[in-house]
Amino acid sequence: MVQPSRILIKGGKVVNEDCSVFSDVYIENGKIADVGLNLQVSAGVRVIDATGKLVIPGGIDTHTHMELQFMGTKAVDDFHIGTKVKKEMETLAKEKGVNSFKMFMAYKDVFMLSDSELHAAFTQCKDIGAVAQVHAENGDLIAEGAKKMLSLGITGPEGHELCRPEEVEAEATQRAITIAHTVNCPLYVVHVMSKSAAKVVSSARRDGRVVFGEPIAAGLGTDGTHYWHKEWAHAAGFVMGPPLRPDPSTPDYLMDLLANDDLSVTGTDNCTFSVCQKALGKDDFTKIPNGVNGVEDRMSVIWEKGVHSGKMDENRFVAVTSSTAAKIFNLYPQKGRIAKNSDADVVIWDPKSTRIISAKTHHQAVDYNIFEGMKCHGVPAVTISRGIVVYEHGKLQVSPGHGRFIPREPMSEFVYKRIKQRDQVGRPTAVIRDPYKGKHHSIFAFA
Ligand code: URP
Ligand code: ZN
Ligand code: ZN
Ligand code: ZN
Repeated sequence: MVQPSRILIKGGKVVNEDCSVFSDVYIENGKIADVGLNLQVSAGVRVIDATGKLVIPGGIDTHTHMELQFMGTKAVDDFHIGTKVKKEMETLAKEKGVNSFKMFMAYKDVFMLSDSELHAAFTQCKDIGAVAQVHAENGDLIAEGAKKMLSLGITGPEGHELCRPEEVEAEATQRAITIAHTVNCPLYVVHVMSKSAAKVVSSARRDGRVVFGEPIAAGLGTDGTHYWHKEWAHAAGFVMGPPLRPDPSTPDYLMDLLANDDLSVTGTDNCTFSVCQKALGKDDFTKIPNGVNGVEDRMSVIWEKGVHSGKMDENRFVAVTSSTAAKIFNLYPQKGRIAKNSDADVVIWDPKSTRIISAKTHHQAVDYNIFEGMKCHGVPAVTISRGIVVYEHGKLQVSPGHGRFIPREPMSEFVYKRIKQRDQVGRPTAVIRDPYKGKHHSIFAFA
């Protein structure tokens, strides 16, 4: 569809991570051309009235899997192809605009890395200025736990959580932080799902580590009590790794830490499998494909549980849904800010409207929704992507292929500035001594 490339958003409150101000926003050719009061524009410009609404940067979902080949087929290569991977990481970072890499401590015999492999991967990330991301769960303990649950006759989705309790996530999180610290590599912990793991991230940040924790919409919006639901398909729908936690105070706790910057940024880990696909594991929970929805509902869930609940303000909402992600992944202020010259990725957010999340009305392909029935205050009224209105009046109006890969430079200052300084000043030095001249044993080797 042909759309005017010039849009004036009038009368809204522009909300950035650091301030909110009543302002108009003028968009031209995919960019924000001006932000200011009572902007005058020529004829032919589409005017959108945003009175009573917020004008916020388009959300950045830090973590999704679309069309992932997973848990039905085994990956052919593992990380033992060490040096080749090392070179590929460098090529991706220097030539292809990829500045983050995810390493797995779970999925034994598939993706799981040993500590020395993690050490090598983190060393390489540090050398090339990439963001090292880690899926932190102890894969060996999960494998043992799964055998135990199956031997006890626990084959349903509750076995998925029982075989990998919180400490399995917390231990791996601590280990990843320790390994990263030995090479002064910044670390990004994806899908922080438990109170225990969140505490580990939070305490590392208080100890001065450059660590970022990413809770996801699922963990902030629902919990793991569903694994005990009597209907198998319902319970299986929530299976993901690390699992949602049965402690019902978990979402609130994660949200409190997110509000206080103990956790930094939000994703979804959107990785959807239909009920039929989940049923690959109908007799054995270890075969249920891991993953849940979230990409469509993340903003509403975080507004509801974060802002509507009073835990965070609208500015922190912007920080955790776009600005901080843009900074970590070196896209700021091209993305994550409403400002002159930024990309025209804008959401006109209606904080007063409500909607009820349901698989019956969502736009995702998956045939259930883990947030089914949740009432959310705060809904997107209009979404603009690179200057094009892609969502309005409850309808998506975007054609496949509109999305663009944005190459990202390594060495994001937000992540690496402190690291570089520490490299300069924190280098260990040897003690200068006179040589030891006393008696000493000698070791003889006999062939
Ligand atoms: O269960 C999950 N998280 N599925 C997606 C793959 C991953 O580990 O992120
Ligand atoms: Zn993962
Ligand atoms: Zn349920
Ligand atoms: Zn993931």
